[in-house]
Amino acid sequence: MDVLEALNVRKSTRAFLDKTPSESLIKSLIDGAKLSPSGVNMQPWELCVVGGDKKKKIETKVLKAFDEKKSKMDYQYYPKEWKEPYKSRRKEMGLLMYETLGITREDKQKQVQQWKENYKAFGAPIVVYFFIDKTLEVGSWLDYGMFLQSFMLLACEKGLATCPMASLAEFPNIVRQELEIDENKLLLCGIALGFEDKDAKVNSFRTSRAKLEEFCKFYS
Ligand SMILES: Cc1cc2nc3c(=O)[nH]c(=O)nc-3n(C[C@H](O)[C@H](O)[C@H](O)COP(=O)(O)O)c2cc1C
Repeated sequence: MDVLEALNVRKSTRAFLDKTPSESLIKSLIDGAKLSPSGVNMQPWELCVVGGDKKKKIETKVLKAFDEKKSKMDYQYYPKEWKEPYKSRRKEMGLLMYETLGITREDKQKQVQQWKENYKAFGAPIVVYFFIDKTLEVGSWLDYGMFLQSFMLLACEKGLATCPMASLAEFPNIVRQELEIDENKLLLCGIALGFEDKDAKVNSFRTSRAKLEEFCKFYS
């Protein structure tokens, strides 16, 4: 698989088969992704690969905390105020997903139910949690994104499916406590990892992208 093909194949997968990728396969993704560049080679990534009972335990605690409305991320992921063109793009994405699932705008209960699937990593057998040291600055967060994309592209090449998930970082204290991670490590996000359930409706839609002319200028 060449890079462009991997970029095309990668998509956010939201339903997985009940089949766990082997540890050696997961290690090969991490060993590949660690080749990503970072400022002065700081390599700011720190990850935990979580499956089995530990994943279930975190899930249960997080779902309880969600019902009790106790979320507090380590950082602000989405803008506090949505302006164009981001507002429309966000809306389009949400509509696409809920239409695919047959969930109407009015059916708030089903929307909440679907949202809660996030905290189960959409049934993926593995969640990889990504941490960064508190002392590192925005530049290192830039480096981190490169690692995450490398990881996901390699997963595609190996026939695995992923979903990068900020929602998995909504309850960082629970995750840190369960994984015995220092408070000086911020939880950035999780990636759901496994094999795609190709029959699931939710995996049938693809998001669009803006035309190049809308976000890129050439000068000479
Ligand atoms: C850092 C990051 C966090 C995300 N968090 C979530 C999430 O919590 N739940 C979810 O369903 N999708 C999440 N997504 C997936 C985006 O919705 C998705 O990437 C976007 O709509 C483009 O679709 P595609 O990934 O299928 O190309 C996240 C993506 C990124 C990069």
